[in-house]
This record gives sequence, C-alpha cells and structure tokens, in this order.
Amino acid sequence: KTYEYIEVSKQDQLGLIALNRPKVLNAINRPMVSEILDAMESFETDIGVRAIVLSGKGRAFAAGADIDEMANDNAIDFELRNQFKDWDRLAMIKKPIIGAVQGFALGGGFELALCCDLLYSADDAEFGFPEVNLGVMPGAGGTQRLTKLAGKTKAMEWLFTGKRISAREALHHGIVNQLISKELLMEETMKAAEQIANQAPISIRLIKEAILKAVDTPLNEGMEFERKNFYLLFSTDDQKEGMQAFIEKRKPHFKGK
Ligand code: HXC
Repeated sequence: KTYEYIEVSKQDQLGLIALNRPKVLNAINRPMVSEILDAMESFETDIGVRAIVLSGKGRAFAAGADIDEMANDNAIDFELRNQFKDWDRLAMIKKPIIGAVQGFALGGGFELALCCDLLYSADDAEFGFPEVNLGVMPGAGGTQRLTKLAGKTKAMEWLFTGKRISAREALHHGIVNQLISKELLMEETMKAAEQIANQAPISIRLIKEAILKAVDTPLNEGMEFERKNFYLLFSTDDQKEGMQAFIEKRKPHFKGK
C-alpha cells in the first residue's frame, strides 16, 4: 500500500510510521490523519507487529495541523465532517505506540505525540501549543491530555502563552520518557520498542488498556478493571510459558496467545 503523506514499513516485530511532509514541517492535514489511522489499524491486526513506532521525517516531528487547510474552515464543516473521528480512533489502538520526537512538536503535532504511549525526545525537541496565537485552541486532546500529564498549573501557563516547552522541561514534567541525542534518537527508540516487542504481547495490551483506564476513572472502578485484565491473562499460553520458564530457570518464549 502506498501513502502520500506518511512512510510506512516493517522491521522485525515493529510497525514503523514516519510523517512525510518535510517541506511543511509535517503539517498535519486531514488525509495525513486518515493515513496514520489506516496504517495503525493494519498494524493493529497484523500478528507480526508487536509495537508501532511513530516519527517525523526532516527537521520536525510535526509543526501542527495544516494551517492552510484549516484557515477557511467553519464550525459546521467540523461538525458535519466529525472532524476528530480519526483522532478518537487513534487513541483506541491497542498495540503500544512509541513516539520519537525531534525538532518541533507543536499544536496538532504535540497532540499526536501525546497519543503515543512512550515518547523519546531528541535534546533539541520543542513542544508547545501555539494555537492561542492563531485565535484558536487545541482540539485533538491537547488541553485534556497535557493537563492530566503535567497538571493544571503548567498547562494553563503553556496554553495561555503558547510558549515552547524545551525537551528538558518536557522530561521534567513527565511529558517524555527520555532525552536522546538527535543522532541516536531513532536507533535508541527502536531499541526501546524492540524490548517492548519482546514482552508478552497480551500482557502489554492489557497493561496499556488498564493504564489508559486509570487516566479517566475513579480508583475503585480502575481497580475492578485491572483485576479483570489480570484474571484474563491467566487464560493465555504466555502466562503458562512465562511462569514455567521462571521455574525451569530459562528465558520465556512468548507467542502472543
Ligand atoms: C501549514 C506549515 C505549518 C503548519 C510550518 N509550515 N508549520 N504549514 N501548517 N502548521 C510551513 C511553513 O509555512 C513553511 O512553508 C514551511 O512549513 C517551513 O516553515 P518555516 O516557518 O519557514 O520554518 P521556521 O522559520 O523554522 O519556523 C518553524 C515554526 C513555524 C516556528 C514551527 O513554521 C510555525 O510557527 N509554524 C506554525 C506552528 C503552529 O502554529 N502550529 C499550530 C497549528 S494549529 P513555506 O511554503 O513558507 O516554505 C493546530 C490546531 C490543532 O495545530 C487542532 C487539532 C488537530
């Protein structure tokens, strides 16, 4: 399958998606979002793929939603098009998504990064929500996800001012997992992704589901949810294999069943 705005490939057990509109710093237009979703959905059902790596080609991860495309939009267009349906679906992908951010991750680009489960950041990355400067605000989860991650205090400051968040600040506020030199970003991100790809896939899947549940449910509901997922893992072959391997003092071989 060929895509116009992204580059998609597979390497070992990883599904790779790279935003590929470098001339406009990977500005995210609607077809690009559909393509990202399409690629993620095919990786989601591909048993050979255990983790997805999302990155951007060129000097940015993504400098935001495509302003040229949005400039003449109006409220009813958005409503009738159900503008964010692909974004909603992106957030429901069940396999782990590992993001590699270099350069700018602004506006919709930052929101896309916030849809990742793990984020590796080049030292030079700059995050931010400049929407306020355009007379708008984030619409694909920015106010919600950033606030849940970093808290109300910094979210208000960053979103009111539109100022950039350095990679170091992003690390400090729990927005990214690790800083890596620009030269090694992809290599190190791939290593981290491989490591996750070697874990028991259904464990990873149900852990992801349970952690995302924690973000928006009261503790007792989340506890109930966690428990059901814990029980469920005991009907996998991988649980038997994982525990048997421990007992036999050997490495487990997980099949994702
Ligand atoms: C369309 C964009 C773009 C964007 C950059 N470009 N960002 N085109 N939409 N979001 C284009 C530029 O117009 C330019 O095209 C080329 O990419 C290179 O960018 P420059 O501005 O020349 O580069 P530089 O001077 O290094 O400045 C980089 C920058 C700046 C600071 C990131 O490009 C910038 O401020 N971009 C917009 C950032 C932004 O406001 N993002 C939020 C968008 S709103 P030409 O043809 O001139 O070479 C949003 C809402 C999300 O995301 C809603 C939910 C999805």
